[in-house]
Amino acid sequence: MSSAIKSSAIKERLSNINHVATLYKTMVIFGIVFYLCYIFFHVTQPNWTKDLFSVSTIEKTLQKSNATDSPTHISHLLIGLIGSEKGWYHRKDYIESWWRPNEMRGYLHLDEDPEGELVPWSSASPPYRVSDNLTKFLEETNASAPVQIRMVHGIMETVREYQEGFRWLVMGDDDSIFFVDNMVDVLAKYDHTKYYYFGGQSEFILSNYWLSFNMGFGGAGLIFSYPLAKALANDMESCLRRYAYLDSADHITMMCIADIGVNLSPHKGIHQIDLRGNISGFLSYHPKSLLMSLHHFDMIEPIFPTMNRSESTRHLMKSANADQSRLLQQTICYHIQRNWSISISWGYSVHIYEKVISRGWLQNPIETFNTWVDTDWDPPHYMFNTRLLSNDSCEAPHVFFFQSTEKVSESSIFTSYNRSSSRDLPPCEDGSYSADYVSHIHVYSPALKRIEIDRCECCDVASLDGTNYMTIKLRECRPNEIIA
Ligand SMILES: *[C@@H]1O[C@H](CO)[C@@H](O)[C@H](O)[C@H]1NC(C)=O
Ligand SMILES: *[C@@H]1O[C@H](CO)[C@@H](O)[C@H](O)[C@H]1NC(C)=O
Ligand SMILES: *[C@@H]1O[C@H](CO)[C@@H](O)[C@H](O)[C@H]1NC(C)=O
Ligand SMILES: *[C@@H]1O[C@H](CO)[C@@H](O)[C@H](O)[C@H]1NC(C)=O
Ligand SMILES: *[C@@H]1O[C@H](CO)[C@@H](O)[C@H](O)[C@H]1NC(C)=O
Ligand SMILES: *[C@@H]1O[C@H](CO)[C@@H](O)[C@H](O)[C@H]1NC(C)=O
Ligand SMILES: *[C@@H]1O[C@H](CO)[C@@H](O)[C@H](O)[C@H]1NC(C)=O
Ligand SMILES: *[C@@H]1O[C@H](CO)[C@@H](O)[C@H](O)[C@H]1NC(C)=O
Repeated sequence: MSSAIKSSAIKERLSNINHVATLYKTMVIFGIVFYLCYIFFHVTQPNWTKDLFSVSTIEKTLQKSNATDSPTHISHLLIGLIGSEKGWYHRKDYIESWWRPNEMRGYLHLDEDPEGELVPWSSASPPYRVSDNLTKFLEETNASAPVQIRMVHGIMETVREYQEGFRWLVMGDDDSIFFVDNMVDVLAKYDHTKYYYFGGQSEFILSNYWLSFNMGFGGAGLIFSYPLAKALANDMESCLRRYAYLDSADHITMMCIADIGVNLSPHKGIHQIDLRGNISGFLSYHPKSLLMSLHHFDMIEPIFPTMNRSESTRHLMKSANADQSRLLQQTICYHIQRNWSISISWGYSVHIYEKVISRGWLQNPIETFNTWVDTDWDPPHYMFNTRLLSNDSCEAPHVFFFQSTEKVSESSIFTSYNRSSSRDLPPCEDGSYSADYVSHIHVYSPALKRIEIDRCECCDVASLDGTNYMTIKLRECRPNEIIA
């Protein structure tokens, strides 16, 4: 049973990548054919010259920042994405929303050469490589999950393309959104010459239990420091032989890393999103940690109502580009004159409660989402506490979603949020103020990155009678400012 559920937990990764079952066919003169295919791919792969401009721009930046003590720069990240030709037709929208061709280094590894409307290859996409043909190796090792072996092998293939000059290797799936500026700011605090393995655990407790609590869930991004990436790449073939019987790429990777002597450092900004349905309740109550990734965009509803998935992704990137450090960071404030609590998930949503509710409770996500797999297991299901959806007027928020952003001055960034739908409930208590009339929220935040996970900000709230909007100004809290 557990293996049935386990494979269900990873089945989407399997199903999204074109099965390579045909690779099993026995070949007589395998060695020669393998060698010829290898040469063939590398000689005939189109569009290599197109990468030249971007690579040389990056190289120039790198030379300037190559000293080991220079600050970590985006060009120090080597990004390896694993995808499939079939999935790329719609998944390229996700990756192109954050990929910056002239600034970022890395490759997309496809299972086969792109065809149809993927040719010519989009210059807004990362350059691609076709994964090595592992047929012979898979036969030799009798691997239980060939696709998963290809994914792990992609780590070595990415390192092989860029032997030197990177500090951090970032691996991910092709349905993930990466927030690379935040990654750079987080990684800058660590010594890349030491051994680090960063990743995110699953939000769904059982996924961790079935695979491992010591494992980073790879689609959301696994980050290896330079010496770890090299050690893993050097040991790739023998480690795949040792663990060919396992059926999850992330599990095999963790086992190989454990053999090197390195353990996972989980990071709360890396999100596997092992959730289903409407994840707005999760994104509106994000832990206080720089947002680094969101995975599984194909498995959830669009994160903004009235938009489709690719529009939603690009919409979130508008606020990400205005100030990535604040993205989804929660600020809780109170409108004392109205007895309202306000929770802001910067650049994504604002929730108003018609009651003063303490911060310790408002930090918990609202369970708008479902479990990753259907299960009759009793709760708890999640790696965090949740609040249940409620029709109680005092517990159900008025919900607003991010609309637009603008830099209004040198020192201030404006973001606006529109009501998504009417709440259709009476006011919280007799005599309390209804927030039904509020249609828009205007938030002003300092135009300064807030990278340190410090005390949260406080706010000044103003709502003029006769208007349908509320203005919130974020500022640093005064030393003894405690509101509850
Ligand atoms: C950076 O330095 C390393 C070793 O010091 C060297 O091998 C590499 O070529 C340099 N890269 C660039 C782009 O200058
Ligand atoms: C991979 O290699 C095998 C032989 O080892 C060959 O039969 C197969 O066609 C190759 N696959 C591709 C996609 O070239
Ligand atoms: C290969 O693995 C299958 C199960 O995945 C097993 O039935 C078979 O005996 C194995 N073959 C060898 C040669 O180990
Ligand atoms: C998700 O849930 C929120 C809060 O309940 C709601 O406002 C939003 O419209 C929902 N989104 C979708 C796509 O249904
Ligand atoms: C999403 O919406 C945009 C804009 O309306 C449209 O161009 C695009 O085709 C839609 N994508 C899908 C997959 O429906
Ligand atoms: C706020 O709520 C408290 C407790 O419910 C109540 O005593 C107080 O009068 C309310 N204040 C306002 C301004 O409505
Ligand atoms: C809230 O009320 C709506 C409409 O009556 C209903 O569909 C929904 O299931 C209720 N939700 C909860 C959590 O009770
Ligand atoms: C959002 O609110 C603004 C007013 O602040 C309005 O101009 C705009 O049309 C609204 N957008 C949507 C999609 O309702």
